Amino acid sequence: MKVIRLADLVAAGRVKGKRVFIRADLNVPQDHSPEGGGRITEDTRIRASVPAIRMALDAGAAVMVTSHLGRPTEGAFKPEDSLAPVAARLAELLNHEVPLVSNWVDGVDVQPGEVVLLENCRLNKGEKKNDETLARKMAALCDIFVHDAFGTAHRAEASTYGIAQYAKVACAGPLLAAEIDAVTRALAAPKRPLLAIVAGSKVSTKLTILKSLADKVDGLIVGGGIANTFMLAAGLPIGKSLAEPDLVDEARAVIAAMKARGAAVPIPTDVVVATEFKADAVATVKKATDVGPDDMILDIGPDTAALLAAQIAQAGTVVWNGPVGVFEFPAFSHGTEAIARAIAASSAFSIAGGGDTLAAIAQYGIERQVSYISTGGGAFLEVLEGKTLPAFEILARRAAG
Ligand code: 3PG
Repeated sequence: MKVIRLADLVAAGRVKGKRVFIRADLNVPQDHSPEGGGRITEDTRIRASVPAIRMALDAGAAVMVTSHLGRPTEGAFKPEDSLAPVAARLAELLNHEVPLVSNWVDGVDVQPGEVVLLENCRLNKGEKKNDETLARKMAALCDIFVHDAFGTAHRAEASTYGIAQYAKVACAGPLLAAEIDAVTRALAAPKRPLLAIVAGSKVSTKLTILKSLADKVDGLIVGGGIANTFMLAAGLPIGKSLAEPDLVDEARAVIAAMKARGAAVPIPTDVVVATEFKADAVATVKKATDVGPDDMILDIGPDTAALLAAQIAQAGTVVWNGPVGVFEFPAFSHGTEAIARAIAASSAFSIAGGGDTLAAIAQYGIERQVSYISTGGGAFLEVLEGKTLPAFEILARRAAG
């Protein structure tokens, strides 16, 4: 997809002295307990947003950055909605002052070489509904609009979509550009075999993804509650495991679609079960055919893990969303660990995204061995669904003139 990139504008000398408005996704988790006081518990998205800000600053721009934080009520400020903790962290990372500006829609005082953080953009009335008047006001604040918020690329809001329509120039920041490149490499022009791992508790939440991937991938590994529904579809017993029996036909349709293309959905041959859902429950490895009526499947078994790891080793591209077991409980974490380590060891281009997946990657310390880790949660899932995200659609339209 052809979009204008901030790096191209910098290279062409079109950023110096200009007012640059960067829409980042600085929506980070915080500890709002009395002791936590809003402390940021995970700052990946802030760190990932630094290169765009640096690029604009180094090019001599007057830089305005904004983001949403949570889902506040428009026009009703509450202290926990404030980007103040983010401004402080950003200042540390940039080693540069980052004043926080409230009530900024009608004008922002910022000079070349300075960067200001504009308070939570979802506090502005009309943001969520992509109000034209608000979007035009925001566009009037800048010469160049930079969309660098991949995590929010699936939303068409005033600060992500409307502003891109009306700004003099609208381009992709380096984070958004890197996400486009990684996704294109993984899904549009993948090195084959292309293997997708889609796991999670429910088929229903990922059915569109499974259907969309069934048309593209050479192997589709399912895990978690999703795999249980596929096991049911394959006629296997699953005891008391989490599953959606009413979606068995949908699972069968996915298996059939894959089979028709000569591809497969591997069904677990062994599993780890327990009779209770708790960290210290007794974990028992059983053949998939031997799951008892009181058993809950909480992980894939060692044979299945070895089989899947071998498949990952053969892959040219791996797309990973979702842990295959209850990896938070050590006794049921081995399957997810095996998958993570196989991806880390593989020479395939690998892309991973989604909150639980990122937590698993952090748990096994394989961040550096995954080729690309997406900052998107919902946005990453929508890409896997095969949707064109509004951010890319509007930037491509603006690039086309
Ligand atoms: C996210 O956390 O996935 C993004 O920041 C988007 O947030 P939203 O779902 O509130 O739009």
